[in-house]
Formats: sequence, structure tokens, C-alpha cells
Amino acid sequence: MQSRLSKLTFFVCIAACLLSSLVTLPARAQNAETYKATLVVRVDQPKWPINRNIYGQFAEHLGRLVYEGLWVGENSPIPNTRGLRNDAVSALKELHIPVLRWPGGCFADEYHWRDGIGPRDKRPRRPNNSWGGVDTNAFGTHEFLDLCEMLGADAYVNGNVGSGTPQEMMDWIEYMTSDTDSDLANQRRRNGREKPWKIPYFAVGNETWGCGGNMRPEYYADVYRQYATFIKNHSGNRIQKLAVGGYDQNYNWTEVLMAQAAKYMDGLSLHYYTLPTGDWGKKGSATQFDEKEWHSTLARTLRMDEYIQRHSAIMDKYDPQKRVGLMVDEWGAWYDKEPGRDMGALYQQNTLRDAIVAGINLNIFHKHAIRVKMANIAQMVNVLQAMVLTDKEKMVVTPTYYVFKMYRVHQGATMMPVDLSTPEYKLGDSVVPALSVSASRDSAGRLHLSLINLDPNHAAEISASVSSGSIKNASGEVLTATTMNAMNTFEQPNAVKPAAFSSYKLQGSQLSLSVPAKSVVVLELATN
Ligand code: AHR
Repeated sequence: MQSRLSKLTFFVCIAACLLSSLVTLPARAQNAETYKATLVVRVDQPKWPINRNIYGQFAEHLGRLVYEGLWVGENSPIPNTRGLRNDAVSALKELHIPVLRWPGGCFADEYHWRDGIGPRDKRPRRPNNSWGGVDTNAFGTHEFLDLCEMLGADAYVNGNVGSGTPQEMMDWIEYMTSDTDSDLANQRRRNGREKPWKIPYFAVGNETWGCGGNMRPEYYADVYRQYATFIKNHSGNRIQKLAVGGYDQNYNWTEVLMAQAAKYMDGLSLHYYTLPTGDWGKKGSATQFDEKEWHSTLARTLRMDEYIQRHSAIMDKYDPQKRVGLMVDEWGAWYDKEPGRDMGALYQQNTLRDAIVAGINLNIFHKHAIRVKMANIAQMVNVLQAMVLTDKEKMVVTPTYYVFKMYRVHQGATMMPVDLSTPEYKLGDSVVPALSVSASRDSAGRLHLSLINLDPNHAAEISASVSSGSIKNASGEVLTATTMNAMNTFEQPNAVKPAAFSSYKLQGSQLSLSVPAKSVVVLELATN
């Protein structure tokens, strides 16, 4: 009885907490041009740090991501530094990428690191069995870690469990990180790298429930424990060991992994992709969609919130101290292949809808940053929801890129809860909140607010305040466009880009904001 009562109290509290942070008002009249919302930033209730790694990226040997998108080779007419194209690297540097995952994905479980070291003209050419084509292995360990150093990003190396051995994994780590006089450390030196690299994150396989070996969770839990034992720390390097987690609503995987192996891991992954239709056979187009598909895409991306909550609740049972991170190391929008493009290349254009998807997910990660310690959007260049698209010597940055750039201010800042009262954005039977908002305070005391208007037809008139003190000034940027599927192309690279945000008024301690339909706004607020 007592436990029933405490369960009831628990659920009432959860419901009250949810209600206190987000109140959805009924959908406003369809013919109104704007809708009203109110927002209070609870500066009196600072929460957890937003781990910088939530802004991580992912680069797999897939399609034109590594080859052409990043690696063009030293003899290419495309300007490059040690074979890595300058335009992409310099655009990506702007994002302050904290961590980069490589070499897969599914590809990780067929990758043998020894193929990708030593003189490039001697490296074997291997079929890419996951995504098609032949991999020349010109881009291997040294090239990846050179890229990380250029970007200022930490390396997240994904080990091979599906077709590799613990010995191969152990040797790779020694090769990369040992400063001793061992044969492997000396081989690295002969291959041009004197000093060892730091490898802070190493994963034991990828999607071992699928492409990584079709394992059952009980089996993988033991495999994980075995392989993780041979991930060794050399010469002061400290590796966080990451285990393969579940996907979407695959809660049993999380339950079993946490029960059987939590104490051997520092992180457990979660993969969730947003498909407009939810149907892998007919996902929906990246660029040709109507409002119904706009709405269903946003409704489906919002499911990330529930998935994280429920996977975290399971993790809490085994790890109440929240030591083990939930690493959402694959997320983003996944559409049908573009006509005329290779099936395995997963190349897709990126529109304003993707910018909204990115902002919504980043806001969700902030909300759960006490458990979510890393997230890696799939993928960085030319694949799925990319930051950068290339076509031979041409390069363009996407609307998603700009969201990551605008959101840099949240990296490492402290999450501030918000009390948001917003109408719904309703289409047919499907309902989502019209606004998504997140706030944080950085180490210099600056308060930042990111606001997303999901409604493609109505601007939001928001009355904003802080729970103590008053707002003295605001400045920031807005990303929007006239159409839902606006995009940057090689012909029109600046169709979607941020502009200074000026639609606000200060009235006493209140800030009145007019957030355009289908937009992402990031503001810095000066308060006292
Ligand atoms: O990101 C593309 C693929 O999606 C990855 O290789 C795999 O892990 C996932 O299924």
C-alpha cells in the first residue's frame, strides 16, 4: 500500500513538474496571424551543465563523406592541408566541434585499422560491405586524428566487435596512445607520429543488435565485458568506454546492458533517426514535402524527449548517481535517397525543416543533460543531416550548420529551466507544442535563450521575463526563410542564413519578442 502511495506521489510530482515547465494552451484560431506565449527563465533554479559533447559530430566511411567531403588527397587541385580540404575544415572549425566519432556506424564493425596505416600507396583496397564501393584506406588513423587536431575536436574511435578481435582492439589503442618503447608505439613513430594521441572515447562495436552482429542483449553484454577488459590506458591517456545501447523504444536492450554491464562502462549509446513518415521503406523526401509532412517530421523528432526519458529512467535504476552517460551518438533526419543518387551514399539536401529538427533535438538534449553526456548528429558532411555539402570543388553549408553555429553559446553552459506557456500547433489529429525553448547561463554569466517556432504559418508574440531581476537588453540572430523547404544550393549558397534579430521591445522588466513562423532564434539577454 505504502509503495503504491509513493508511486502515486511520484507520478503526481512528475506530472506537476512537466506541467510547471511546459503548459500547452489550445491551438489558436487558424486565421490569426500571430499567437501569444509567455516565458519565464528560472534564473533562480540553475540545473546541470550542458556537456559540450552534445554538440558532437559523426564521420563514417560512407558515400562521399570521408572521400571527397573531407579527404581529397595531397595532390588534389582542391586546396587542402595534408590531403584534407581547406574549405570544409575551415567551415567546420567555426562550429567548435567538441568530439568526432569515426569510422562508423556499421562500417566500424568491418574496419581493420592496420589497413589504414603506413604508406598510402601500399594500403589495401577493400570493399565497403556496408555502403558499397571500394575503400582505398587513404584515410586512416593518422588522417582522422590529424583532422581532429585541425578541428580542435576530441577523438571518439569506434572499435570493431562484429568482425574484429579483442587483440586487434587492444593493439589499436596501444598504437595510438602509447608513449613507450613498444613495437606498436615505434611503428606509429615510423609512420610519422612521434607523440601519442589522446583518445578519450572508445566504443565497443556499433548497433550490435543489427549490422554489428545481430546479437541478443544478453550475449552482447558479455561480449562487451570481455572486449572492454582489453581497452587499456597507456601513458596517461584515460579512455571512457562506451557500450552499444538500444534504439528508439528498445528499452529491453538498455535494461539488460545496465543490469549486466553498467559497472564496466562510462557510456551507453542510443540511436534515433527522424523519418517524416516513420516508414523505412518510404521515408519521405528531403525537399519535396507539404505541411502535413513538415508537421509529422517535427512530431516524430519530438519523440526523442520521451525516448531519452524512458531510457534514462531504466539507467537510473542501476546507476542513480548518473555516472554512466547516455550517448545519443546517432541522431538526425533520414529521408529517401535523392533521384539519381547512389542508394548507399545517403546523400540528402537540407532545408529549413532540418534546422528546426536540429534545434528541437538540441533543446531536448539540454533538458536531459544530467544524463545525456554526448550526442553526435549523423553525419558531418554529405551524408544524412549534414553540416556541409560538397560537389567536387564546390562547398555549401546547410541550415543545420547554422543552428549548430548559433547554438555554440550553450556548449558547457548551465541549463536554466523555463516556464513556458505556449499554444499547440495542430494539423489534423497531430498536435505538437508551437514553441520549443531552452536557456542556459555560461561561465561568464551571460544568459542565452534559444527559441524555435515550429508553426510554419504564424509568428509567436512572446512575453519573456526572468524569475528574478529584469532583462536589460537582448541581441541575437534569427534563422528563417519564406518557404518550409528553403535550402542552400551550390548555385544559391546563401538562401538560408542567419540575420540579426531585431523584433523585440523592452517594456519594464519584460521583453516582448516576435519570433517569426518556422524559425530558430538565439538570443543573449543582459539581466540585472
Ligand atoms: O548513419 C548511418 C547508419 O545508421 C550507421 O552506419 C548505422 O549505425 C545506423 O544504422
